Amino acid sequence: YKKVTTKSLIEMKSNGEKISMLTAYDYTMAKIVDTAGVDVILVGDSASNVMAGHETTLPITLDQMIYHASSVVRAVERALVVIDLPFGSYQSDSKEALRSSIRIMKESGGHAVKLEGGKEIKESIKKILNAGIPVMGHLGLTPQSIYKFGTYTVRAKEDEEAEKLIEDAKLLEQLGCFALVLEKIPANLAKQVAESISIPVIGIGAGGGVDGQVLVIHDMLGMNNEFSPRFLRRYMNLYEGMTSAISKYVTDVKSKDFPNEKEQY
Ligand code: KIV
Ligand code: NA
Repeated sequence: YKKVTTKSLIEMKSNGEKISMLTAYDYTMAKIVDTAGVDVILVGDSASNVMAGHETTLPITLDQMIYHASSVVRAVERALVVIDLPFGSYQSDSKEALRSSIRIMKESGGHAVKLEGGKEIKESIKKILNAGIPVMGHLGLTPQSIYKFGTYTVRAKEDEEAEKLIEDAKLLEQLGCFALVLEKIPANLAKQVAESISIPVIGIGAGGGVDGQVLVIHDMLGMNNEFSPRFLRRYMNLYEGMTSAISKYVTDVKSKDFPNEKEQY
């Protein structure tokens, strides 16, 4: 795929090709992620945690999401760019949801939006889709509802919640969402959902039976050594690598090793 579209993702699912997705929040990182061949770049509201240092995703604003998203869009040539609608920008009513989505699309140049929830936000999803804006769903652990759940532990372990999740996934497909994220639910349940709908299911902490995987870039690069959920695979230890590079710089400045003769005019 020269340029990934919502259609290519649906094709990937029917061809059995797994979809790769990572987050990015800024130009430099997005350029690297895109060049490395990631199919979908998510400008996640996890920016609230990893970029701004908030404890939850709730404080990030629509303006801040648009700033991150427009920085990412300027870097990307191939990937599909999906942007999270932040908490408070779509829950009041479907008109607000559409207004927020239009702002994201116009002001960032991104390709699709993502919203957390199922049946509760049905009208909003319909309205956004009617405006021609592709929507990605997000079920399971939905961090914008952290104060309702109280913890970030695995969701839908009980039958009742699992059943609602299956219904919500089918509803999202029916409404016309092009894909959905399943976060931190039992692998068996995620596999069952992926097999029962035709749109791609991208998992995070949802096992290998789904159609693709997503991780937060800072986590998979090991920039963050405090957050170690079971589902996280670290591909680098950038925390150590960067800390030792930076302390070497400090040493070189103090010892007058840097700059040397060749590093000056
Ligand atoms: O904000 C985010 O990073 C996300 C992913 C974890 C799916 O929503
Ligand atoms: Na998110």
